[in-house]
Amino acid sequence: MLKVKDLNVYYGVIHAVKGISFHVPEGKIVTLIGSNGAGKSSTLKAISGLVKPKGSIVFLGNDIARKPAHRITNSGISLVPEGRRVFVNLTIQENLRMGGFNRKVSELNELYEQMYKLFPILKERASQKAGTLSGGEQQMLAIARALMSEPSLLMLDEPSLGLAPKIVAEVFDILKSLNKKGVTILLVEQNAAQALKLADYAYVLENGVITLEDEAKALLNNEQVRKTYLGES
Ligand SMILES: Nc1ncnc2c1ncn2[C@@H]1O[C@H](COP(=O)(O)OP(=O)(O)O)[C@@H](O)[C@H]1O
Ligand SMILES: [Mg+2]
Repeated sequence: MLKVKDLNVYYGVIHAVKGISFHVPEGKIVTLIGSNGAGKSSTLKAISGLVKPKGSIVFLGNDIARKPAHRITNSGISLVPEGRRVFVNLTIQENLRMGGFNRKVSELNELYEQMYKLFPILKERASQKAGTLSGGEQQMLAIARALMSEPSLLMLDEPSLGLAPKIVAEVFDILKSLNKKGVTILLVEQNAAQALKLADYAYVLENGVITLEDEAKALLNNEQVRKTYLGES
């Protein structure tokens, strides 16, 4: 579904992503794990059109590298950004409206209802400001907002960041059920243990380079991964 080949991201003289290649097959959950500064966000931003990369990004047969962000959203890719970035002064429903910027007005009510069915907590509070939500609820809202464009590929940048383990488990359960409904997922995480349990396939990113890749379950048992990312000695 998504084939990234020889992707490079530069910020001036900083070479953040150094020629990585990976793919995301339709219907799967693929994770990109790595520590702070590894180049995870830069990779997702490049795919989303938020930074201009070098290399090729082929989505459903079309090269989308360097296309404008709204065209990439329209083609079926949606990003849940790092730190959630909900609009705290807008209501929950207004936040959803922003995610549905490319939808027809006549489709919106049906989409809101779909989101409220997936996330009942958002329905109860639809007319409240997003800033009144807890961190976990804001993460749910950020996911719902991304789903408003009905993406076939949902990308998430560290959705577990700053959330209590119980809430992380809830968020990851939602990702699992979305995937069962047919949404392909590219998940970027520092929380390697959770990500590897959820994903089908995984890549390890270090200093802008992919150093390891395998079935996620196999990486959970990989000695190097256990030492570096799962905090084992
Ligand atoms: N806007 C930017 N300007 C300059 N350097 C940046 C910018 N964004 C990220 N970087 C650098 O690029 C590298 C990769 O960052 P990032 O993709 O955010 O990593 P990660 O998401 O894995 O923590 C880091 O060295 C970071 O300092
Ligand atoms: Mg990041």
